[in-house]
Amino acid sequence: MMKIAVFASGNGSNFQSLVEANIDASIDLLVCDKPGAYVEQRAEKNGIDIFSFSAKKFPSKADFEEKILAELRQRNIDLLVLAGYMRLVGPTLLSEFEGKIINIHPSLLPSFPGLDAIGQAFDANVKVSGVTIHFVDAGMDTGPIIAQEPVKIEEKDTKEDVQRKIQALEHDLYPKTIQHVISQWQRSVN
Ligand code: GRF
Repeated sequence: MMKIAVFASGNGSNFQSLVEANIDASIDLLVCDKPGAYVEQRAEKNGIDIFSFSAKKFPSKADFEEKILAELRQRNIDLLVLAGYMRLVGPTLLSEFEGKIINIHPSLLPSFPGLDAIGQAFDANVKVSGVTIHFVDAGMDTGPIIAQEPVKIEEKDTKEDVQRKIQALEHDLYPKTIQHVISQWQRSVN
């Protein structure tokens, strides 16, 4: 069975939806760069190993990514799933997991990359935003798109309404898309 490490830094609602979904893979590690984030409690409750680190305790990104890499290798992790990991992935992880890192972003990329995508869309008064799932490359929310779905923004919607709609879609689309990618890989090796 394929082994997944989820990278998350915050609340972890997407982490939870992945844990609860029926994916043909095991989630064997949470990588968290915000020690104490709520997502760690979710991992503990589900008996999932946690590697938690504080970037500022390392001299460089390469140093903490080497440490992450050791944790991934030790568990034979195949796939990295980013779910609210608020950092760019550096060359250390990218070179070892090329084409094996997936991210979810709460907008229809290439619109509204970067921080607070929901706020950016809301402030721009767009009528449609959505969710994008893509392979990760060295850029900020760039990389080949795997799946994308729209969310309508109504006149009466507050930013919180938009956030609720987008998160509900994320919790459905992320597990489905990861299952789809895994099924494709399984077909290609068989
Ligand atoms: C999600 O909206 C995801 O798209 C973005 O970060 C957020 C994480 O939320 N990359 P949560 O921690 O999974 O609740």
